Amino acid sequence: MTDTRRILTIFGTRPEAIKMFPLVHALEADSRLESRVCVSGQHRGMLDQVLEVSGITPHHDLDLMQPDQTLDSLTARLLTGLGQVMDAEQPDWVVVQGDTATAMAGAMAAYYRKIPVAHVEAGLRSGNIHHPWPEEVNRKIIGTIAALHCAPTETSAAALRRENVDPSTIHVTGNTVIDALHWITARIRQQPELARGLSELEARFASKRIIGVTSHRRENFGDGMQGIASAIRRLAARSDVAVIFPVHLNPNVGRVMQAELGGLDNVALIEPLDYPHFARLIDISTLMLTDSGGVQEEAPALGKPVLVMRETTERPEGVEAGTARLVGTDADRIIAETNRLLDDGESYAAMARAHNPFGDGHSSARIVDLLAG
Ligand code: UD1
Ligand code: UDP
Repeated sequence: MTDTRRILTIFGTRPEAIKMFPLVHALEADSRLESRVCVSGQHRGMLDQVLEVSGITPHHDLDLMQPDQTLDSLTARLLTGLGQVMDAEQPDWVVVQGDTATAMAGAMAAYYRKIPVAHVEAGLRSGNIHHPWPEEVNRKIIGTIAALHCAPTETSAAALRRENVDPSTIHVTGNTVIDALHWITARIRQQPELARGLSELEARFASKRIIGVTSHRRENFGDGMQGIASAIRRLAARSDVAVIFPVHLNPNVGRVMQAELGGLDNVALIEPLDYPHFARLIDISTLMLTDSGGVQEEAPALGKPVLVMRETTERPEGVEAGTARLVGTDADRIIAETNRLLDDGESYAAMARAHNPFGDGHSSARIVDLLAG
């Protein structure tokens, strides 16, 4: 290894970009390390929203998204493309985040070249390879390959130890999503106009309680997504409620949501929000309904109750802290749990307390030290 270690950071989707930008900022600021960034472009528009807000210009952009891409063709394109970038860059470390196809293929391509892999957000496990799908297997593959495991919490570190990962390679760093949240909150404080794009909707729904919604999980396509859509339609029949739902660009999501919810007065189906506006949406919402991973971490940090429309979670910390509750995708259950929060002040107050089990906002600095050490 040369004196200045070359770190190749790889990401491709919206959540990876949000959780990697604080690390890229920290790598760029550290003279012990040379930062190189490769984006796969697995997401195009939603990735670019994050690159723009965070001011990151990647050194490589594979631009490989295709409409309604399948997992196998996506993975094949990722392996070849990322391998070529590694051959050109010859990094000392490859850093991947989370559990997407980009992260899994990045780890595999590095392994084929015997380049050590650092895994950010290591050790999340639902214990069910079909929920979330295919993320549970992606993260297990990365966990098998990685030489450095940056676990967000003690729970995730323990999951890795149970899989016989060498304990000396596991470090509890916190989740960089909290670094991202702190950074964006500070930016909005300096420049409030960054998050003012919702003001028309805020005025339209001024007399209502807002429910913020996101949904995109592949394992929910079909019955699950139909259940979610029908729950939202029935909840929107309440005159005191409005729903703001930035719809994920996966066409399998938009199709169902437009058919079920398009044209309802108090449901705003909108384009994906950039990060400052999504932080604002959490802020103005009474509660969040989501199947997202990242939102399960952000809502507790901001003290917003979050009902998780999934059968399992790899993030039990929010549930244990009392800010998150697993409600599945059955419409009746989603409606009952939401109505309880809306109508029972005590239940609401019990969930609406800020907890930060996921980090203290200094995770990136810890990871940089580990990479430099
Ligand atoms: C991916 C990740 C998932 C992650 C999610 C975050 C995998 C296998 N899945 O799922 O783990 O939780 O991102 O959002 O890695 N699309 C666009 N523009 C975009 C983004 C997506 O048009 O900016 C459309 C395209 O038609 C694309 C489709 O959405 O083919 C699916 O994208 P893909 O990344 O394959 O899957 P996601 O469901 O987004
Ligand atoms: N997010 C965003 N705009 C939106 C919806 C979500 O910026 O319209 C952010 C959200 O704050 C979180 C991340 O995207 O940090 C979650 O991404 P997603 O739900 O797509 O993926 P997951 O976390 O489930 O992998």
